[in-house]
Parts: sequence; structure tokens; C-alpha cells
Amino acid sequence: MTSAQFDTLLLEVDSDRIATLTINRPDKLNALNAQVLDELKKAFEEINGDVRIGAVIVTGAGDKAFVAGADIKELNRLNSTEGQKLAAKGQAIFSQIENCTKPVIAIVNGYALGGGAELAMACHLRIATENAVFGLPEVSLGLIPGYGGTQRLPQLVGKSKAMELILTGRQIKAHEAEEEGLVNDVVPSEESHEAAKKIAGKMLKNGPVALSKAIAAVNAAYRSEGFSKEAELFGELCDTEDFKEGTTAFLEKRKADFKGR
Ligand code: COA
Repeated sequence: MTSAQFDTLLLEVDSDRIATLTINRPDKLNALNAQVLDELKKAFEEINGDVRIGAVIVTGAGDKAFVAGADIKELNRLNSTEGQKLAAKGQAIFSQIENCTKPVIAIVNGYALGGGAELAMACHLRIATENAVFGLPEVSLGLIPGYGGTQRLPQLVGKSKAMELILTGRQIKAHEAEEEGLVNDVVPSEESHEAAKKIAGKMLKNGPVALSKAIAAVNAAYRSEGFSKEAELFGELCDTEDFKEGTTAFLEKRKADFKGR
């Protein structure tokens, strides 16, 4: 079954009750613009309510990127109020994914930067292809992660490593991500779907209600006030000259010249 109702996503369900949701803007490296976010929200509402779906695989179209982040062209125009609102919206949608009643497995098939890394971290498990690259490079744009990255990265890799990665914006490859506990497995690209389907298949042998309660129970330990603080600070940064300079420099394909204002 294929769902034709989305412009930026592909949703297919196979005979094993496994849905594959593909973010489909390969010419922009699957960057998360407003339309992708809105469609992700709708897709997960549909997935949660569809009894034919038992588990979900989330991936990116093409062989270069999972998702290269929030759409920097859209970010560039934001003021502080709009920035805070956008972060809160992105966080709500990623929280919807994290709280999906069915297991959600990300196949990280290339760049997972900024919002892309945050999307992968909101999924329950991550399988990386060998060319996967993770990073939260927002500080290089004069910004901070706004879709939960400052909260979920420390949960997955610990505070010290998370501080290093967030403050340097350093990008790490698949095997380092595995060593740090950020991904569950690294596989060759051509085996990634089989690997994700295999693990989803093992989960689907279990009681569906138990799966949903297990997800809810694990998630219960990770709620934090930090999410709203992250959205507030993300918004504040949208009013800074550094943010305008950082995002404009990316769009103009040049190095940013930050003034600390
Ligand atoms: N938002 C909007 N557009 C993006 C994007 C993003 N996050 N990431 C990539 N794109 C666009 C590029 O602008 C380019 O568009 P164009 O062909 O119209 O110029 C296209 O996708 C291809 O990207 P390009 O940068 O040319 O590919 P590359 O192979 O040289 O570099 C990356 C790949 C991922 C290293 C680079 O695109 C990048 O750094 N992206 C931004 C990552 C980021 O900072 N994300 C966090 C955002 S909060």
C-alpha cells in the first residue's frame, strides 16, 4: 500500500505490517521545511491510527542524506517570536514521533545534521549506513539545536560528549556514532532496509499493547523542562546579528564572520 496524500513524504506499508516513511526532498538533502514538518505530523497521526501498521522505518530519499537539517532558507527570515514558535512546533512533532505507540526505527542513510540528527534521535532506534554523518552544527549558524537536540543528545551519549559535539558542531561518522551509543548498528547501505526490517520483525512477534506500553514507560524517564528552555533560547538567538550572519553566510556559500552580537 502506498499513500499518495503527501508532497514531501512517501509512505508505504508492506505485507509484514512495516511502514516506510521517506522524507522526499533529495535536491535539498531532505531539509525540513514547514511543509515537511506539517506532513510528518499528519503521517504519524495516520500511522498511530492505522491497524495495518505495526512498526515504522523513517529514512531519507537518495543516497546522500537522511536529513540535512531544518531548512536554513526558512530559518534566515525568523524573528525571535517566530523562532520560538517554530522550535516549539518542531519539538511537538518530534515528541509525537518519540511517543508513537509503534516502534520507530530510523535508517540514517547519509547526512543527519541539525534537525536531521534531532529527527533520528526522536526515533526509538537508529540504524546507520556506513556513509552516515551525524552532527549538530547549529552554533556554526549562530544558533542552537531547537528540535530537542540539546535534550536528547545528552540522553543518548552523556552530558560530556554532548557538550563537546554541540559546542564544536563537530560531525561524526557512523562508527564513532555507534561507539558513542548514538546508533544501534552500522550496516552497508544496500543492507539497511533488510536490517531495519529484521529488527522490526522481531519486535512485531511481541504483544502490540506491550510494545506501546514499553515505549511509554521508557519515555517517561526522559521528560524535562529543558525542551521549553531550548525553544526559548533558540527564539532569542533569532534576533541576533550572529544568527542572521551565520544563516546568510550558509545561503551565500561563504564562511560566517561572527561579531558576538
Ligand atoms: N537547509 C536548506 N537547504 C539545504 C540544507 C538545509 N539545511 N542543506 C542543504 N541544502 C541545500 C543546499 O543549499 C543546496 O541547494 P542548492 O543546490 O539550491 O544550492 C542543496 O541542498 C545541496 O547541498 P550542498 O550544500 O550543495 O551539498 P554539499 O554536498 O556541498 O554539502 C552538506 C552537504 C550537508 C555538508 C551541506 O549541505 C550543509 O552543510 N548543509 C547544512 C547543514 C546544517 O547546518 N544543518 C543544520 C541546519 S539547522
